[in-house]
Amino acid sequence: MFSKIEWAIFFILLSCKSILDFEYLQSLIFMLKSIQNLLYCPICHDSLAWDIQKETDHRIIDAEVSCIACHKSYFVKNGIAIFLLDASNDEDFWKVVQSNLSKALRSNPEYERKLMQTDLDNLNPADKLLHSMILDERGDYDTAREIRAEAVRDLYTSSYTQAYQEKKTQLQKLLSDKTGVIIDIASGMGGFAELFSELENPVILSDISPSILQRNKDRLEHFGIYEKVSLIAFDARKMPFKEKSVEVITTNMGLTNITSSEEFLNELVRCLGGVAYFLTFFFPDNGDANADVLIEHNMEFGFKNRLLSMSSPLLETQILFEDVSSVEPTVSSEIFDIGIDGLPVISTDITWAIVQFSPLEDDS
Ligand SMILES: C[S@@+](CC[C@H](N)C(=O)[O-])C[C@H]1O[C@@H](n2cnc3c(N)ncnc32)[C@H](O)[C@@H]1O
Repeated sequence: MFSKIEWAIFFILLSCKSILDFEYLQSLIFMLKSIQNLLYCPICHDSLAWDIQKETDHRIIDAEVSCIACHKSYFVKNGIAIFLLDASNDEDFWKVVQSNLSKALRSNPEYERKLMQTDLDNLNPADKLLHSMILDERGDYDTAREIRAEAVRDLYTSSYTQAYQEKKTQLQKLLSDKTGVIIDIASGMGGFAELFSELENPVILSDISPSILQRNKDRLEHFGIYEKVSLIAFDARKMPFKEKSVEVITTNMGLTNITSSEEFLNELVRCLGGVAYFLTFFFPDNGDANADVLIEHNMEFGFKNRLLSMSSPLLETQILFEDVSSVEPTVSSEIFDIGIDGLPVISTDITWAIVQFSPLEDDS
């Protein structure tokens, strides 16, 4: 039903309402070196041998890493740790969307002219968003941020934007008494980076896509908060952590995007020692056109009832701060004739929430 690029843009869009408005946090110096001891083989969960080739006082820049038991190898390159089972990873949606868009602009100067040289007032919100993505890719982060904010304001209903902002504030309160490393999964463009920058905790931003992490690194550096963050590519269904070792785990609208929900839940049960807070929204499980899309793409966590019935036997599950907002299908790009969001495909009421998971009592 949707082309790969449409899905890629759908994933991107879910993240793009978080406007990166960073403060410079010089006092929070976080180093990959300090989390080295947290990392274990994502396959057999045994210890790792580190061959560090380039480092600074605080950071590992380049290293070869291998599991002492199964000998599977991983690496750190340019400060980004890659703990993917398959480094050629074909689930890198960001790479797909980035190369498709860039290729289209390169191969057809008319696209470049229409998307990048048209007066912004004459671009519809979807094209404005694409324009900002290209600027971001080209490293013009300030302008990209400004234009993205404008596009997002026009793409979404005010009830959507308001509910999303409220969930972030509520999450920030939940995190305020937590100490230790926060591990954010399916981080995409790092929509929580601003929120995290106001907390004292060191942060791991992670994603299955190394290419978005590379871009995040450059952007975080640009806005002066890379020092607080470590970037690690891993699949949330195969996390490089030891049993019950993770104290705080979050995701900003990443839950629905992680398919094979059962596999992910089992991995969460294995790694989670403390608490997980997942900011998300649910669709009605009523067999409508939105539900069809979610089911077609194995996104069971897009439905509250399915999430609860799957997670309750495995994890203490609470749905916090529920809030309904009306949403409309977002407009499509006029230049590329593609949709921006995969969902919703029809007007609907979604239910925002923060899903709280913790180990079952007899399991902790
Ligand atoms: C829409 S983004 C979520 C928004 C993002 N958290 C943010 O704040 O910008 C969804 C992300 O999930 C990532 N993803 C999808 N499946 C994943 C998996 N199995 N493990 C880790 N990340 C995954 C995608 O690469 C994408 O970046």
